[in-house]
Amino acid sequence: LGAHSILNVAEARDRARSRLPRGLFEYIERGTEDEVGLIEAKRSLDSVTFNPRVLVDISNRDATTSIFGTRQPLPLVVAPTAIAGLIWYDGEVELAKAAAAAGIPFCVSTQSITSVERIAEESRARLWFQLYVWRNRDRAIQLVKRAERAGAEALVLTVDTAVAPNREYNIRNGFGIPIKPSLRAGLDCVAHPRWFVTVFAKYLRNGGVPTYAHYPDEFRTALGRVAVADEISLAQDVSWEDVRTLRSAWKGQLILKGVLRADDAVRAAELGVDGIVVSNHGARNLDGAATPATCLPEIVDRVGHRLTVLADGGVRRGSHVAKYIGMGAQGVLLGRSVLYGLAIGGAEGAGAVLDIFRRELLTTMGFLGAPSIPDIVGTVVPARG
Ligand code: FNR
Repeated sequence: LGAHSILNVAEARDRARSRLPRGLFEYIERGTEDEVGLIEAKRSLDSVTFNPRVLVDISNRDATTSIFGTRQPLPLVVAPTAIAGLIWYDGEVELAKAAAAAGIPFCVSTQSITSVERIAEESRARLWFQLYVWRNRDRAIQLVKRAERAGAEALVLTVDTAVAPNREYNIRNGFGIPIKPSLRAGLDCVAHPRWFVTVFAKYLRNGGVPTYAHYPDEFRTALGRVAVADEISLAQDVSWEDVRTLRSAWKGQLILKGVLRADDAVRAAELGVDGIVVSNHGARNLDGAATPATCLPEIVDRVGHRLTVLADGGVRRGSHVAKYIGMGAQGVLLGRSVLYGLAIGGAEGAGAVLDIFRRELLTTMGFLGAPSIPDIVGTVVPARG
């Protein structure tokens, strides 16, 4: 069965699970600590409901929208996800191609396996670049300049990852970068030979062990391992001062990703930031963090007139997109959903998932009496509490 035969994101997920080594699938799928956040993400989005308008001519529905003044056919962005290049060979390029075909931006992660330059060369996607600030700020700025030269339109500063998250399953699975030889990892690969041959072995044939493409060369050993060096570890003192610095260093759109509080959103607006992503990092960082679906309405109320407000987390259906849009988000980022598609069919699989979102969103808009994206606002009843 080809990737095009999937009916929904849940089916893509099931196929991704059988295709990928368990350690890799769990890295994508799971949360952190007791995974309360994963349950909450679903519960809070499910508790948002619709209040549809009837007797509206919806025969010409159109999901086109403007994000930062650029028209795009869908209110979606492919979220930055670390190591997508392990899910499929050159996975970041494949995701970018799928995004380009759907006419939406692709956000490159700092922890990408493929460099922003190559992604730009090999896809015609509109690129955003996600930044994790390294301790050595000069190096971080050099990376930002690379992204600028490669043509990235927006810089997405992730602000919700002050410390390394406690993901114990990764430790038990022996899952780190680069993948270390271990009996468990070996058995995992034997159990998933197709992944091993089409992804991992292909990297070995074409130059070596896959590693983080944006980390400076001098920190990479012959095996592709990224040396643990203080200066390129994630800074724990990232502050509003860094936002000021980045605002003057970056001409394009500047976005803070991982804002959950209205007062932080106001402060971002005051510093000249262009947009925020209301996000709890897909419940992967702080277990028990408030969910985007509960925080979004207040944030939109406070800064919606000054900032582009985007949201992400738990989006597996077109109706979930409509819920965030209905609560005032101008666009929605997709993390795991597109990775499932990538895992089962590269750009084609990710594209099949984006197509599912397009169809489901248009169906939801039909039921809502909302022929266009702005019409969705007012048909959604936010969750209480
Ligand atoms: C992420 N996310 C993420 N965010 C970020 O700012 N930088 C990163 O490198 C990563 N890496 C990453 C890897 C994987 C495997 C996942 C699933 C997620 C978070 C991502 O951008 C987004 O906020 C969430 O994935 C949204 O939730 P859903 O759509 O996955 O439920």
